[in-house]
Amino acid sequence: MESLYRPELATITKAAPMTATEKYFEIKLNSGRELGHKPGQFVEVSVFGVGEAPISVSSSPTKKGAFDLVIRKVGNVTGKIHNMTAGSTIGIRGPFGTHFPFDETKGKDILFVAGGIGLVPARSFINYVLDNRKDYNRVTVLFGCRNPNERLFTDELSLWAKRDDVEFLETVDKPLDTNWKGNCGVITTLFPKIKIEPANTFCVIVGPPIMYRFVIKEALDKHIPRHHIYVSLERRMKCGVGKCGHCQINGVYCCQEGPVFKYSDITHLEEAL
Ligand SMILES: Cc1cc2nc3c(=O)[nH]c(=O)nc-3n(C[C@H](O)[C@H](O)[C@H](O)COP(=O)(O)OP(=O)(O)OC[C@H]3O[C@@H](n4cnc5c(N)ncnc54)[C@H](O)[C@@H]3O)c2cc1C
Ligand code: FES
Repeated sequence: MESLYRPELATITKAAPMTATEKYFEIKLNSGRELGHKPGQFVEVSVFGVGEAPISVSSSPTKKGAFDLVIRKVGNVTGKIHNMTAGSTIGIRGPFGTHFPFDETKGKDILFVAGGIGLVPARSFINYVLDNRKDYNRVTVLFGCRNPNERLFTDELSLWAKRDDVEFLETVDKPLDTNWKGNCGVITTLFPKIKIEPANTFCVIVGPPIMYRFVIKEALDKHIPRHHIYVSLERRMKCGVGKCGHCQINGVYCCQEGPVFKYSDITHLEEAL
């Protein structure tokens, strides 16, 4: 029980800016234990004397000895973490929450749809699947962000694009004045370019709130069953463990019954999407 409430000391072992607002951190727990997360789960990160913030684990559980976080600077806690460098101490509680269906999807096709910073939790599952590639059938990854400067993990995106056993498509809303030669348009414009076998396909969607309605519609139009569609929902969380009620969606505690939900389980929750 204590571990639910008491942050464990952890050390930032690597820190590197990724975009103007996102920074990558590699974290090691000082005790030496593995975090033991499943793809899609989050941790509560504390900056002592400032506060805590829920942050998705971005690395696959197949990465051992440390785990990855990507943090967007938006306020008090995230602002302070952005000033930290390798060697700094933070607190970690967790992992918490539900996870992506990494077991149920074995032998099936998976369609990942990640928008913007949604790539951060999706990457944990994508890399898990790629590290256990023979366990899964067809893998398709669609990634979209507002402009080329907001692309995350650019080295990994290039590797995914080069692989024969992954269909990787990406797009940007606006190319700006960069040398972008790829697709332009919102992420749903990638759907006509892919072929899927709906009954055998699981769709994992992570992105900004506006994206869900439109992407779910595309998935349903492609006849992917509702119970094969998974979404990860963000709510303002505080405790992360079902005590404070901050994260409720129509009475459902997003920190415990989520953040990963099966779409067929939330269609009755008016405030979910
Ligand atoms: C499950 C989960 C996973 C997440 N994963 C990531 C991740 O991987 N990377 C990442 O960067 N972020 C992630 N987030 C979002 C992250 O938790 C928030 O950005 C963070 O908590 C902000 O903390 P802060 O102290 O820096 O900001 P704050 O100082 O709390 O302020 C942030 C902004 O929100 C506003 N705000 C503050 N309190 C409230 C409130 N009660 N209601 C409405 N608005 C408010 C502020 O005015 C400000 O604009 C995740 C959130 C959840 C729930
Ligand atoms: S964050 Fe406190 S109950 Fe969910």
